[in-house]
Amino acid sequence: MKAAYFMQHGGPEVLRYGEVPDPVAGARQVLVDVHAASINGADWKVRAGKSAAITGVPYVLGRDFSGAISALGDGVGEFRVGDPVFGVCDVGQEGAYAEKIAIKAALVARKPASLSHAQCAALALIGLTALIAIEDTLQLKSGEKILIQGGAGGVAGFAIQLAKHIGARVVTTASAANHAYVRGLGADEVIDYNTQDFTQAVSGCDAVFDTVGGEVTMRSFAVLRPGGRAAFIASGTVAPVPPRADVASLRPNVTRDRAHLERIVALVAAGAVRVPEIALYRLSEAAAAHAVSEARHLRGKLVFKVR
Ligand SMILES: NC(=O)c1ccc[n+]([C@@H]2O[C@H](COP(=O)([O-])OP(=O)(O)OC[C@H]3O[C@@H](n4cnc5c(N)ncnc54)[C@H](OP(=O)(O)O)[C@@H]3O)[C@@H](O)[C@H]2O)c1
Repeated sequence: MKAAYFMQHGGPEVLRYGEVPDPVAGARQVLVDVHAASINGADWKVRAGKSAAITGVPYVLGRDFSGAISALGDGVGEFRVGDPVFGVCDVGQEGAYAEKIAIKAALVARKPASLSHAQCAALALIGLTALIAIEDTLQLKSGEKILIQGGAGGVAGFAIQLAKHIGARVVTTASAANHAYVRGLGADEVIDYNTQDFTQAVSGCDAVFDTVGGEVTMRSFAVLRPGGRAAFIASGTVAPVPPRADVASLRPNVTRDRAHLERIVALVAAGAVRVPEIALYRLSEAAAAHAVSEARHLRGKLVFKVR
């Protein structure tokens, strides 16, 4: 099959397009003909060697996808060949930048006819991450105030809409060019992080969700009320130690399962969350897509149209 892959870590230019071995569905797995796969903020970090060690080469990135089942492994009873599904790879597995992927059946959900493959691929990992951060980890409640760092990004854009759906007041950070966009997602207040210090612009928050990382992480604790809680997804795999004792620091455990994917579909069907803006690329254009993602000023999602 054809895939976008790399043989050694480096810049976007190490991404190649060509033949790699076909995957095979093992027990309780399905083989999926990938129609669309998305590019996530974590992918360029893996390519650049800034994440956990890769398992071998050629290395195929890609954590979420949408497609049609082409084969069933032993013990899969809930699907048939031809079923349209979307999913997120298990923690530690990648490989969606490809024409086929083998994945545990328990990690895919049925693709609704109302959403395209590109839309499902775009929503899968960002939706799963936002749901686990906002609902499962922060347990955000109606009437609470939350600061969502990096509102124009993929995960944060879903999180803004989810927080509004819950009934929270949402403050977010974005560059000026994205203020109308994040307000359109439902943000009540927008801070231009290039011209304003967010720690001066907002205070008394019940919760913070940081999708930006770097120096933003430790400074985020300052905006919490006593007893507030903060969740971090862009500053490593463990929660940072807060500089104050009266707040909680949390690292969402972004596990994968069908139930969260079905909740994404339900939220979109209910009109609570809309599909992000999508820019389409071919797998042969992976280097160009990574250059955009790595520049860190992307709005919405980048998606590979595979077939
Ligand atoms: N399993 C997990 O733990 C998990 C899952 C998913 C994602 N993540 C991590 O979460 C992070 C976000 O992922 P993503 O895919 O949502 O990222 P993304 O879509 O690539 O986010 C890019 C956005 O960040 C904004 N941004 C950059 N610097 C900023 C700053 N200083 N303040 C405010 N906004 C800033 C940019 O908006 P402007 O142009 O307005 O600056 C841009 O829209 C990544 O680090 C990723 O690795 C972790």
